[in-house]
Amino acid sequence: MSTNPLKCWSKIAIALISCAIAIFVGISPVLAEVPSGEQLFNSNCSACHIGGNNVIISHKTLRKEALEKYAMNSLEAIRYQVVNGKNAMPAFGGRLNEEEIDAISTYVLGQAELDWSTKVEVSTSQEVSERKS
Ligand code: HEC
Repeated sequence: MSTNPLKCWSKIAIALISCAIAIFVGISPVLAEVPSGEQLFNSNCSACHIGGNNVIISHKTLRKEALEKYAMNSLEAIRYQVVNGKNAMPAFGGRLNEEEIDAISTYVLGQAELDWSTKVEVSTSQEVSERKS
C-alpha cells in the first residue's frame, strides 16, 4: 500500500479549513447581536434625524452648532434625552438598553464632530440646505 503524503496533508488542510468555517459561522450571529452605534442610529433615529437633521423641528439638528446652542453637546445630555425623550421625540429608555444608548450617543457626538459629512451623499446634503434656505 502506497501512502501519498501530499494527499494526507491536503485532507488535514481541508479538515482545518472546514473547522475554521464552522467556527466562524457559529460565532458570527453572536457578533451580530451587538449592533454598532451607526446601525442602532439607522434603525431607531434616522426616521427623524436622517443625515443628522431633524425632520420635525428643523433647527434642532444633531449638528455641532445646534447641539452646542441647545446644550446637547455632551454624552450625558444626549443620553438623557434618548432615555427620556422630549416633546415630539419619543423616549427610548424602555426600548434600548444602556449599552445601546451609550453606543448611539457616542455615534451622534462623533458624527457631529465630522459634520455628518461622511455619511451624507453630496446630493442629499445639498438638497437639504436648498430646502432650508
Ligand atoms: C419621532 C421622531 C424622532 C425620533 C425617532 C428621534 N428623535 Fe431626536 N428629536 C426629535 C425632535 C422633535 C427633537 C426636538 C425636541 C425638542 O427640543 O423639542 C429631537 C431632538 C434631538 C436631540 C437634540 C438636538 C438639538 O439640537 O437640540 C438629540 C441629540 C436627539 N434628538 C437624538 C436622537 C437620537 C439619538 C434618536 C434615536 C435613539 C432620536 N433622537 C430619535 C425627534 C425624534
